[in-house]
Order: sequence, then structure tokens, then C-alpha cells
Amino acid sequence: MRSHYCGDINRSDIGSDIEISGWVHKRRDHGGVIFLDIRDLHGIVQVVFNPDLKEVFDKADSCRSEFVVNIQGLVRERIDGAINTKMATGEIELEAKSLNIFSSAVTPQFPLDDYQDVNEDIRLKNRFVDLRRPDVNQRLVKRSKITSKIRSFLEKNNFNEIETPILTRATPEGARDYLVPSRVHPGEFFALPQSPQLFKQLLMIGGLDKYYQIAKCFRDEDLRADRQPEFTQVDIEASFISTEDIINLGEELIISLLSEFTDYQKTKVPRIPYKESMEKYGCDKPDLRIPLELIDISALVKDEEFKVFSGPANDPSSRVVALKVPDAADMTRKKIDAYTDYVGKLGAKGLAYIKVIEVDKENGLQSPILKFFKEETIHSIISNLDVQNNDIIFFGAGKTNTVNLSMSALIKKLGEDLNLMECSWAPCWIIDFPMFERNKENNLTSLHHPFTLPAVSVNELKNDPDNSLACAYDFVLNGYELGGGSLRVYEPTMQKEIFSILGISEDEAKEKFGFLLSALSSGCPPHGGIAFGLDRIVMLLSDTTNIRDVIAFPKTQSASCLLTDAPSMVSNNQLDELNIKSTFEPEQ
Ligand code: AMO
Ligand code: AMP
Repeated sequence: MRSHYCGDINRSDIGSDIEISGWVHKRRDHGGVIFLDIRDLHGIVQVVFNPDLKEVFDKADSCRSEFVVNIQGLVRERIDGAINTKMATGEIELEAKSLNIFSSAVTPQFPLDDYQDVNEDIRLKNRFVDLRRPDVNQRLVKRSKITSKIRSFLEKNNFNEIETPILTRATPEGARDYLVPSRVHPGEFFALPQSPQLFKQLLMIGGLDKYYQIAKCFRDEDLRADRQPEFTQVDIEASFISTEDIINLGEELIISLLSEFTDYQKTKVPRIPYKESMEKYGCDKPDLRIPLELIDISALVKDEEFKVFSGPANDPSSRVVALKVPDAADMTRKKIDAYTDYVGKLGAKGLAYIKVIEVDKENGLQSPILKFFKEETIHSIISNLDVQNNDIIFFGAGKTNTVNLSMSALIKKLGEDLNLMECSWAPCWIIDFPMFERNKENNLTSLHHPFTLPAVSVNELKNDPDNSLACAYDFVLNGYELGGGSLRVYEPTMQKEIFSILGISEDEAKEKFGFLLSALSSGCPPHGGIAFGLDRIVMLLSDTTNIRDVIAFPKTQSASCLLTDAPSMVSNNQLDELNIKSTFEPEQ
């Protein structure tokens, strides 16, 4: 039904008879001549209809936006004055000889011939039309190219693509499971995989050596701009390899994508221990494009009268930090108040600041908190931070978690607002993660997942779980966690100890993970791997911060599909078959 894609026709086709198929992008009537711009995945071409071919002309006259047509015609050069330099095919046009209308179309919910910002909900509800927009479909084309590059990279490195089940048992990755009721086993449920974690380990135990999968994962968790309930991982696992091997492989993969799809200039990718990252950036996914760091000043202010600072400075679960922002002392009070509100929403009780007008001059500093401090303390803060004229220093004091959360968010916000990005791409590895962290109830939970190999012996882990490190690593790009992985526990004693530390009883461990424990005792090779978030990779390489932009049919922030109206109620018959009774009562 076509000899050429619309967007590919060029000067070299002048004089050729060709055939195209696509959508009517725009229809114009110019003094007896009709112009239809025809659009397909590759672009747009202008077609001219002359009244001398009456039947064809009349059909063109009846065309409206988004009709689907097939046209045969002669490619010709546009006359002087009609050349459109903004259009890829702007030097040529097609003189129509025949026109076949495949489908008519109702007026679209939003115009496609004139770019407009359209509310995302309307776009998602009419995704089949939204997908026709070049910026939307080109991101999906790019996703396909990226996926293909990933596959060929991994296959070149001798990885085999193996599928793992979707209807399975829970795989703990820290989120809630999506459950699927079983009809044939009344009262029992499958869980959709949060990741293929356990199956890829079983593949290693089964001797498959090097596995990968472009795998769908499902997590019922709070959604953000970079999270979807259903997303795709580039999941990788290999046997008889070290952390170093996996880091090198993962790095080579991502760098090859950056080199192919962006202007990235290869540099060494830093490896930052988790502890250092939390201290310097307040988070484990720093955006290293922004040259701002937190400096801990607890030691400098612990003997001060100002309780807002000295309180946290003397509390082991708290900290006091300073954040120097160069050349920003002219920041208005209104802006500072806005940043104070911003950190306040993340739990900070305030945002103290000092404006450095002239470092060495008396009264050269401006701040509402100067009066609370001894002069030497101010001096030592200033000299510790290597402050210059016209800098501003912000301070965060309080519980370490709150200070880290709020001040890391402030770094990212200042980076964007003040345009502080020093480069386009700043990847890094975060290494030396702790095995566990404490939740709100003060119970130990896995920082990665319970199958991560500790960097210590079983006894050391048992004696000091809080300070035990893991053989785990995350790949971070521009402040986004792109991937995470670890070496895995490969003997049952260690695995049982981890379950016990996590408060999983022996019976529960047997019930939930018995198959893993017996596999571990059946001859398990040392193994490890990593999973990258494909959606996040494509998102960053497509210059957007909205993960929905790179998924053909994404869910909204409230985990629903506006297009199909899923999730939806089901009939009582279906529920009866599944032995399920809903306790939900719709509001009247
Ligand atoms: P993890 O839970 O860190 O590790 O996930 C790996 C990567 O998957 C991406 N990701 C997501 N992307 C979009 N929406 C989500 N809701 C979402 N959740 C995670 C991130 C993340 O870095 N089994 C381990 C991997 C391993 O140990 O090999 C795992 O799933 O980019
Ligand atoms: P206050 O004595 O509460 O008025 O605070 C004096 C200054 O310290 C104000 O600029 C507050 O924004 C700031 N401040 C208060 N609490 C904190 C905190 N936890 N961290 C940083 N600054 C704070």
C-alpha cells in the first residue's frame, strides 16, 4: 500500500511516480487547488490536487483531518516561493493522480496539526490519537532502538534471554503485591512478580550461567513521576562473577547507550560509598551535575546556646548541615521563604541562612541567626566552608532522616532554579550499602532485598546487623536510580540467618521460600546481577522527566488506565467463580 514513507520523500524522488498511505494532517483550499498534508510515522508530505482530475479532486475535497488515505502521484519540485524550509520534505510535493479514502474520522479531541499543550488526562484517554503526535511516537521508536541495542549488547556478551513466570509467588522488593485469584484453587492467589529475582537465581542454580530478560514487573506502591505500577526491567544475572565484573558490565551497557543516543563524552564513573553519599548529598541518588554539597557542622555548633542547632548536634540520630550556594546572596527574602516552605513540606522545622555580602568586613554577613552564635563559631563555619563574597549558606538541623530528605531535595531544587548544572550527564555508582535499615517501628528491613549477599560472615551479621554492609550497588544517572543489583546469598545458612534477622520465622521462611532454600542446598554457584529500569533509561535518553511519556499505554499517578478504564468492577458471577466476596461498598 505504499512505495515510500511520507517523511522520507526527497529531491532524489523528483519525477518518480510513488504511492503513500497515511493520515490527513491538514487540509487547505487555495483558490481552486486543494492541498492535503499527509502524515505517517516518518513525517509529513504535501499533496496537491488539481480540479482537472475531477473525481480525485472531489474526494480530496471531502477529506477532513485524520481521515486515512492512500495516494498515488508524481513527485515534483515546489515552485519558488512555495518552498517550506521548516519542513523536512519542504522542497518537494506530490501531484495526486489517485486518492483512496480508507477511513473517515471524527474531529479529534485535540488538534494534531497545531502543537498545543493538552491536558495529560485527555491525552491518555485518547492515547490512540495522542500516539500519532511525532514527539510521542518518536519516543516509542527510540525505546525500540534502545531495547534492541541492549539486547545485542547482552547477546554479544553471551547472555541468553529466558522468560520467567508472571503468575507466581510473591517476590519481595519492598512494595505491595498485585494478586491474582486462582479459580481452581479456591482461596489461593498468585502474585505478579515485583521482579524476576528468585527465578533468575534459580536459573543460575540450574546452570544457565548468564541470563537476561526484558521483564515486566509489577509493584503496588505510591507512584511518582519516575514510577509506574507496571514497568520494565533489563534484568541480568550471571554465575561465577564478582561485583567488579557486574559493575563493569552494567557501566559498559549504559555508557554505550549514552554514547549512541546523546552527546555524552566518556569520563570515569565515580563510585561513592553509601555513607559518603548520604553525608555529602543527603541521599543515595545524587545528581552530580549540581556542584552543591552538604557539610556537617555538628561539631562546630554543639556547644552553642542556640538549641535549634546544638540540640541535634548532640543527638546521635540527628545532624546539622550547611549548604553553601555560590554567588546567590542576592536571593530575595520571598525566595528564601519559598525554599523554607519547600523544605518544610518535607518535615524541616526551618531553613536558617547566612548571606555573605563581604567576608572580611565587619557587618559583612546578613542573617537572622548571627545573634545566637559566638563570633568564633561563625568564623569557623565560614572558614570550613571556604566562603566567598556573595555566597549564601543554608542550614538544616534536626533528625538525620529529615535533614537528609529536605536538604537533598533543596540541592536538586536550587540546581534547577539557579541553573547550576555543570554538564548534561553525570553517572555514578553507589556502593557499600548497608544490609538493613530500620523502619518506623524500628524493625530491621532489607535495604535491597533479602537475597543480597552480606560483605561479612554469618556471625558478624548476626552480631551487628545494623552496621553490616552488603555486596550491593546502584547505578545513578542525573539523580535517578537507573539500576540496582548485588551478589546473592548462595548458601542456606546465611539465607536463613537473614530471614531470622528480618523477623521471618523458620516456618514462614519454609512456607514462603522453601523452594529457594532447597535450591540453595542443591549445589548453588556464587552468582549476582543487576536490573536496570528500562522506562527510566528511555526517559532520560528522551529528555523528559515523566515516565509516562515513554510508555505506550501508561497508568496515571493513581494507578489507573484512563483509556480502558481499568481497573474496573467485575460481575458477581466472576467473583463467585473465584470464591471472592468484595467488602467494598460504593458511595451512594
Ligand atoms: P530494584 O528494586 O532496585 O531491584 O529495581 C531495579 C530498577 O528497576 C527500576 N524500577 C522502577 N521503574 C519504574 N517504576 C517502578 N515502580 C520501579 N521500581 C523499580 C529502577 C530500579 O533501579 N531484583 C532487583 C535487581 C537485582 O538485585 O538484580 C530489583 O528489582 O530503575
Ligand atoms: P526560630 O528561633 O525558630 O525562629 O528560628 C530561627 C532561624 O532558624 C529561622 O531562620 C529558622 O528558619 C531557622 N530554623 C529553625 N529550625 C531550624 C531547623 N531545624 N533547621 C534549620 N534552620 C532552622
